[in-house]
Amino acid sequence: MRAVVTGASSGIGKALCLEICSRFSGSRVLGVARREEPLKELSAKLGDCFDYVVADLSEPRGLDAVLRKAQASLGGVDLLVNNAGFGLYKGLLEHSDEELLSMAAVNFVAPISLTRKLLPLLHSGSVVVNVLTSGLHFLMLRLPAYGATKIALHYATEALRRELKPRGIRVVSVYPGVVDTEFHRRAGASPPSRVKPVKPERVAEAILEAVAKGRERVYIPWYTSLARVFGPLLPALY
Ligand SMILES: NC(=O)c1ccc[n+]([C@@H]2O[C@H](COP(=O)([O-])OP(=O)(O)OC[C@H]3O[C@@H](n4cnc5c(N)ncnc54)[C@H](OP(=O)(O)O)[C@@H]3O)[C@@H](O)[C@H]2O)c1
Repeated sequence: MRAVVTGASSGIGKALCLEICSRFSGSRVLGVARREEPLKELSAKLGDCFDYVVADLSEPRGLDAVLRKAQASLGGVDLLVNNAGFGLYKGLLEHSDEELLSMAAVNFVAPISLTRKLLPLLHSGSVVVNVLTSGLHFLMLRLPAYGATKIALHYATEALRRELKPRGIRVVSVYPGVVDTEFHRRAGASPPSRVKPVKPERVAEAILEAVAKGRERVYIPWYTSLARVFGPLLPALY
């Protein structure tokens, strides 16, 4: 398997790179993130299976760097996982324009743009995975801008699935609940203490299972899918 995984320096993306390399012998994974040190450590651990590109996905040149590296080091792409993302625990009007633009660029624009740029490397049978959040089904009052970018990507992912179908490229939407990663610390607060976080390894396994079994949408844990129905009754869970 030849895979591109964004957000490979920590959390879900890192767990996914480790899982792909341990499951599929001969696979090659291209990890993308801004922090080079954790990518270097992964490379030392995974050897030939893992290569990386240091890129800021909020910038067009970062996206172009991923394309160039994927062309040079993979040649083709069987699996693209748009996983990089971030949020900020603050009110909508407390975000600066720079924060809003950067969040929209990384969480919403980059997955679409990267898919378009990598299209020549994708083929019939390839899979594109977009990492969303089950929180988008209700109002996350402590993460409103983040929720807005993810619901935009959710909408776009439904359209992308239909646009790529004629090419034989599948699109998988992944909706994690609370995951035990650096996300919340970097976002500036803690998730609600009554919600038990899942491990990033569990999300990585669920992504690979969805890819293998041809699933289009996956919720982790499964019961967070109930938010689709009961979300409007759960005001401000976050
Ligand atoms: N943790 C949760 O509770 C949770 C729940 C639902 C959905 N999610 C989603 O899961 C995905 C992965 O998050 P995580 O929980 O694994 O958090 P994480 O450990 O903070 O990982 C986020 C990854 O995104 C990368 N990233 C952020 N901004 C970037 C940029 N401008 N350019 C390139 N890479 C960038 C980070 O790398 P660098 O900082 O090195 O660039 C890091 O590798 C995100 O899309 C997040 O929204 C998380």
